[in-house]
Amino acid sequence: MKFIPFCFVIFLGKFVFLSWPCCLSVNVVILVLLSIAFLIIVHRNLLNLSDFLKQDNADVAPGMILPFETGFFSDRKARTGEEIPVVITAAEERLGAAVAAMNSVNQNSKANVVFNIVTLNESVEHLRSWLGKTEIKHKIITFDPKILEGKIPDDPQKADLLKPLTFARFYMPVFLPDAEKAVYLDDDIIVQGDIQELFESSLKPGHAAAFSEDCDSASAKGIVRGAGNQNNYIGFLDFKKEAIKKLGMRANTCSFNPGVIVANLTEWKHQNITRQLEQWMERNVKEDLYSKALADSFTTPPLLIVFYKHHSSIDPMWHVRHLGTTGAGNRYSTQFVKAAKLLHWNGHYKPWGRTSSFSEIWDKWYIPDPTGKFHPIRRHSGDE
Ligand SMILES: *[C@@H]1O[C@H](CO)[C@@H](O)[C@H](O)[C@H]1NC(C)=O
Ligand SMILES: *[C@@H]1O[C@H](CO)[C@@H](O)[C@H](O)[C@H]1NC(C)=O
Ligand SMILES: *[C@@H]1O[C@H](CO)[C@@H](O)[C@H](O)[C@H]1NC(C)=O
Repeated sequence: MKFIPFCFVIFLGKFVFLSWPCCLSVNVVILVLLSIAFLIIVHRNLLNLSDFLKQDNADVAPGMILPFETGFFSDRKARTGEEIPVVITAAEERLGAAVAAMNSVNQNSKANVVFNIVTLNESVEHLRSWLGKTEIKHKIITFDPKILEGKIPDDPQKADLLKPLTFARFYMPVFLPDAEKAVYLDDDIIVQGDIQELFESSLKPGHAAAFSEDCDSASAKGIVRGAGNQNNYIGFLDFKKEAIKKLGMRANTCSFNPGVIVANLTEWKHQNITRQLEQWMERNVKEDLYSKALADSFTTPPLLIVFYKHHSSIDPMWHVRHLGTTGAGNRYSTQFVKAAKLLHWNGHYKPWGRTSSFSEIWDKWYIPDPTGKFHPIRRHSGDE
């Protein structure tokens, strides 16, 4: 042991100064280096923590969206590279749909896909236990339906069309404040292609979103007489209403299906798309602007107005739909369905329901519910 007469360490903000005699003792040098390393680590962690807290406060509008679930669960198969944020909703009565959809995306891509699952508070625990044993990289976002007060009509007959989570897609930039681009997927879909390809769809400058048009040949093929002939604006909006007339939109303009969206969130925020959509929802409550024949979804009409002639297109094979408009039997050929990159069972006949076309494809991606609460109700005997 050697007495060091004149050794001290000075901390000044981030910097550490040593008086020179310290250097004389190797032990002391090692000790000092270790302390510096320790200080740097502590300092960094504090910085990260304070950034995180700041961000949380800034992005969560008080009383609207509950704080996010943070962190990734069961990220066993580490995916790296550019993150592909996918937004999907998970409603309690159809959690199995969201799980099957996510599983199909995951198994068909090596990309770093992160699912941002929007759900109601009641389903958070259920989802966690279901996904905990899978390799689905995800964040759970709790949606507070209070945000929709005054924006959706109070109509018990239409309760099915007015499920709060169907409006979650309007709030994408709130869920993903740091993402520039994101994909939204309905839960009643199965992806058969590599999601990276959809994510890389290019949007025209100034466009905040891309959708699949209702008049393209692929989707027109699946439209069944009487069930899904809404393929233009007049099917969704009441053109007799003054507010709609004033917009000067052509009633026979081809509509689009918002079950699959590729969004440029920078543009979305820049153009205040969320606010615009909310304003049309509020006007509809007062002035009843949507078509009386509206059969499918209450989310489509405001999107049609806000994105009129101002959106890009998605490759038709990335949104092959109407698989749910008939029970058994559908006009699509087996080869066509096999070649599709994304299948959408929009309509009443869901692949986890009693009868549905091509439900055997959906079955391949379904992961049974470990809690036993959800199970497909289909009987396999006598199918076809
Ligand atoms: C969310 O659900 C949990 C139980 O699942 C409950 O304890 C909690 O109070 C709920 N939070 C809100 C804001 O409703
Ligand atoms: C999104 O929009 C912004 C603003 O128009 C543009 O600068 C950016 O390149 C776009 N990003 C993508 C991925 O298309
Ligand atoms: C979006 O909203 C902000 C603030 O409310 C406003 O300053 C801006 O002009 C709006 N932009 C557009 C394109 O409407």
